[in-house]
Amino acid sequence: MSLPPEAANILRSGGLVAFPTETVYGLGADATQPNAIARIFAVKGRPATNPLIVHVADASIAKRYAMTWPGEATKLAEAFWPGPLTLVLPKSPLIVSVVTAGRGTVGLRVPDHPLALELLRAFDGPLAAPSANRSNRISPTTARHVRDELGDAVDLILDGGPCRVGIESTVLDLSGVTPTLLRLGGISRRQIEAVIGPVKSIGQIAAHEPAMSPGQLPVHYAPQTPAFRFENFADPVEGAHTARGTIRLGSKNEVEKEGLRIALPRHPELYARHFYEVLRELDAMNLPAIHIEMPPQQPEWAAVRDRIVRATKAIDH
Ligand code: TXA
Ligand code: MG
Repeated sequence: MSLPPEAANILRSGGLVAFPTETVYGLGADATQPNAIARIFAVKGRPATNPLIVHVADASIAKRYAMTWPGEATKLAEAFWPGPLTLVLPKSPLIVSVVTAGRGTVGLRVPDHPLALELLRAFDGPLAAPSANRSNRISPTTARHVRDELGDAVDLILDGGPCRVGIESTVLDLSGVTPTLLRLGGISRRQIEAVIGPVKSIGQIAAHEPAMSPGQLPVHYAPQTPAFRFENFADPVEGAHTARGTIRLGSKNEVEKEGLRIALPRHPELYARHFYEVLRELDAMNLPAIHIEMPPQQPEWAAVRDRIVRATKAIDH
């Protein structure tokens, strides 16, 4: 799909445009128009306390919307933009405060998708966009997911095919003394530390401190079907759990489906690419439960494990 000529005008007149990114589909509106932003919160049913990420076409434009631009931001933008990394920086007054939920900081990112970049260049402004799903539901990785979930509430849905990364961007806060990881995602901690040295992670924040980012809330991205995770997955006794959907680690580099049993690639990037899609598929079947086998507790699986944890309750056996 190429960019429809009306897309940028819809944004300028305060409308909503859903668009593909390399991570998940976004629901975009002009970050300088409070009424347009209010529509995003209304359509998603999102609490006004959860700030939105602002998308721009390149780092030089991102700088316009940040009050300070530390050396780390330059290095990280050079290394990973366009790409799945969001940088949180002190915000400029150009970004209206409803976008950042009243915070003094703004999350900025340059998405790595040709259609998203075309839209950003044509619009030529800051595009606030959360994932294009209803609040607390599974993020969409195809245009069809967006249509099924938001339909007519959106003025235009751009179809750029299935998302390559499949889980959301990594969110890194550069507004404090030490860079702090607020959300794991498409760029790993190791990749970031290779560029700017050690970063803190949210795990090191004491439990009694208020959440720095609402994305840290323990349950998020959850299916409506009760979903459970297993560190040691035992195959259900034949016949006993036949109605349950399962997502396990497979042995191929593609998704394997056998009735309600789905196996995803034992490879973190390929697993992430398909996880939301298969979770959505099982969730749509009105099953009594979904069981998910946890991938290994290793750094390369950290972002995927984070998403599974947010979508499920733990069961040990
Ligand atoms: O990959 C992505 O980041 C996708 C695509 C569409 O770009 N967007 C996305 O947006 O996942 P959303 O709204 O679903 O998640 C944004 C996350 C939330 O956890 C939010 O709390 C955090 O980023 N965030 C945004 N601005 C922030 C800020 N100023 N301070 C702290 N956290 C912020
Ligand atoms: Mg989201």
